[in-house]
Amino acid sequence: MERNRYIAQTELDQQRRIAEEVYLENRDRDLTFFVETFGCQMNVRDSETIKGELVDMGYSEAESKEEADLILFNTCCVRDHAEKRLMGNIGALKELKDAKPGMIIGICGCMMQQEGMAKKLLRRFPHVSLIFGTNVLYRLPQMIRSVMNGERIAVTDRADDAIAEGLPQMRDNQRSAFVNIMYGCDNFCSYCIVPYVRGRERSRNPKDIRDEVVSLVKSGITEITLLGQNVNSYGNDGSTGMTFAELLAYVSDVSGLKRLRFMSSHPKDLNEDVMQAIATLPNVCHHVHLPVQSGNDEILKHMNRRYTRERYLSIIRRLRELVADIEFTTDIIVGFPGETEEAFKDTMSLVDEVGFAAAFTFAYSPRQGTVAAKREDQIPESVKKRRLRELNELQAAKTVKNNEKYIGYVGEVLVEGFDERGEETMLYGKYQNFKMVYFPGDPSLLNSYVTVRVLKTNKNSLLGEMIDA
Ligand code: 5AD
Ligand code: SF4
Repeated sequence: MERNRYIAQTELDQQRRIAEEVYLENRDRDLTFFVETFGCQMNVRDSETIKGELVDMGYSEAESKEEADLILFNTCCVRDHAEKRLMGNIGALKELKDAKPGMIIGICGCMMQQEGMAKKLLRRFPHVSLIFGTNVLYRLPQMIRSVMNGERIAVTDRADDAIAEGLPQMRDNQRSAFVNIMYGCDNFCSYCIVPYVRGRERSRNPKDIRDEVVSLVKSGITEITLLGQNVNSYGNDGSTGMTFAELLAYVSDVSGLKRLRFMSSHPKDLNEDVMQAIATLPNVCHHVHLPVQSGNDEILKHMNRRYTRERYLSIIRRLRELVADIEFTTDIIVGFPGETEEAFKDTMSLVDEVGFAAAFTFAYSPRQGTVAAKREDQIPESVKKRRLRELNELQAAKTVKNNEKYIGYVGEVLVEGFDERGEETMLYGKYQNFKMVYFPGDPSLLNSYVTVRVLKTNKNSLLGEMIDA
C-alpha cells in the first residue's frame, strides 16, 4: 500500500527558520494582521493555521482592518456571488493601502485554486501583492518574506497536495476545536467544485490526529469535531491502516475528551461499523450531518451521489433504531439541472419524512469546470427561488415540530455564549445531539457543562432552566 505523502521535515524546518528571520527583522514594528474567513469549517480551520504562522513570525491580531499591517481574505467558491463580493471587498481596500503603503493585502483559499483566478486578481488589483491556494499554507513564511521584499506573488501549485504536519496554530475557541482527519475530495459530485480546488483525497495518519486531540484536550478543550469533506471514506486508500469507525474508537478514548463530533458524512460510505461506533462509544455525539442533496433517485444519479433515496432513508431508520435521541442535519440543493416539479416534490417528501433538526438549503449554482454546469437543462432562477422558499417553509415547520418533543427533556449543555440584550442574561449552548437551548444564567459559566431542562419552545429555539451548575 502506498503511504501518505507528507511534506518533508527538512522543508518544514526551512520554513520555520525563515519565520524566525522574519520575526527578528521586524521585531520593533509591532506588526498586526486581520484575516477574514469565508465559507466552510475547512476554511475556518485553515485560517487558524495561517494565523498561527503569522504569530510565529511576530504578528499579532489587529482589532480592525484599518489598523492591520496585513489584511488577508480566505475565500470560498462553492457557490457564486462570492466572487462579486470579494471584488467589492478588495476594491474597497485601495484607499487604506494608499494611506499606508507598507500594508500587505493578500487573498487565499479555494477561489485562488480556480483556473486563471490568481492572474486575473493580480492584474486587476495592483494593491494586492500576495495570493496563495489551499495546499501551500506551510510556505507562508517564505511568501511573506518575498512580499516584504517588494515582490507580488501568486502560489497556487496543485502538485503539492501533500500533508504538512506540525504547523503553528492559533485557536481562539477554548472549549471546542476542529481537527482535520483528511483533506481534499475524490467524489466528484457533478455540481461541486471542491475536488477541483482542494485536490485529491488524502488522510492523515491516526497517530498525528490522536496526538493533536491529546494536546488540545490538555489545553482545556473538551469538544472535538473531526473534519473532512467525507469523513466516512477516511483511510479508504489503505494508507492509514484504519477505517473511520476504528479512528472514532481510537480518538474517543483520549482521557478528558467529553464530546467527539465529526462532519461531513457521505451516505454512500456510512456503514454499519460507523453506526455501531456512534451507538456504543460513550462520548461520540448523537448527531450526524448527512447531506442528502435531493430526494429523487434520478437527480441523485445525475449528481453522481451513488446512493438512492431508499438507501438514505435506511441509514436514518437504522441509526434511529440504534440511538434513541439521535438528530440529523442535512444539506439540500434545489434547482439542479433537469429537476422537474415531480423531482422537487420527492425532496419535499423526504424532508417531511425524515424530520431533520436543521437543513442547510441552497439554490443550485453552476460552477465552471463541473459536469452539471455544462448541462443544457438549467433551471430558471425564479423557479429555484420559489422551490427554495417552499423547502425552507417546510423545514421551518418541521423544526418547530421537532422542538416540541423536547419539552421536559433534561440533559447536559456545553455553554457557548450569552445574550445580555433582554431583561435577563440568557446563556446558550448545545446538548450533545446538537440541539441548541437558551436558559437564564451567569456568563461565568461560559465553556462549562450545566444540566438544563427544556421548559418551552419559541419558534425555532428551545428555552429551558438550569437544574444544577
Ligand atoms: N450549488 C449549490 N450548492 C452547492 N453545494 C455544493 N456545490 C453547490 C453548487 N454548485 C452545497 C452542497 C454541499 C454544501 C457544502 O454546499 O449542498 O453539501
Ligand atoms: Fe463536493 Fe461531493 Fe466532495 Fe462533498 S462529497 S466536497 S459535495 S464532491
